[in-house]
Amino acid sequence: MINSVINKLFPKKLAIYQLGNSQLRKQAEPITNVQDPQIQQLIDQMLFTLQKSRGVGLAAPQVGRSLQLIIVASHPNDRYPDAPTMEPTAMINPRIISHTEETEKGWEGCLSVPMIRGLVPRYRQIVVEYGDQYGNQQVRELDGFVARIFQHEYDHLEGKVFLDRVESNLDLVSESEYHSALR
Ligand code: NI
Repeated sequence: MINSVINKLFPKKLAIYQLGNSQLRKQAEPITNVQDPQIQQLIDQMLFTLQKSRGVGLAAPQVGRSLQLIIVASHPNDRYPDAPTMEPTAMINPRIISHTEETEKGWEGCLSVPMIRGLVPRYRQIVVEYGDQYGNQQVRELDGFVARIFQHEYDHLEGKVFLDRVESNLDLVSESEYHSALR
């Protein structure tokens, strides 16, 4: 009990595994008990880590835990100046229930793939189902950049990174070129 209070007050920033680490290439396991204090602690630590890393999404395999847990946390920052604002949301055992046929290409980066941006095709609109942090089942419609974040993080649970989704190497650029020329 005291430990969980201390962990809430002083969350730890987790190390983010980088491309080449085999943890990023595994199929993640479903979470059976979201109330498990270790899962709750992992959620708190991932929320904190994401905030400190100026990211808009994070998947448990990126912090070395092969579990079906993602955080979607769109907000404008210097890495993604045009991102819409939302409450950071932990999604447990997420699924895509349906999606538009239409895809659109947009720029993505990844905390596990530093210094690179890629133009990635994603469904424009999706309906997703997931368990929330409190154990309630949720269904939500996501579109645009938030739908893109979800699909990016969901890919991490299947051992994929955005580099696997680009249609051509010509759609990969350095972070500095992206910021100076393409935005
Ligand atoms: Ni990523």
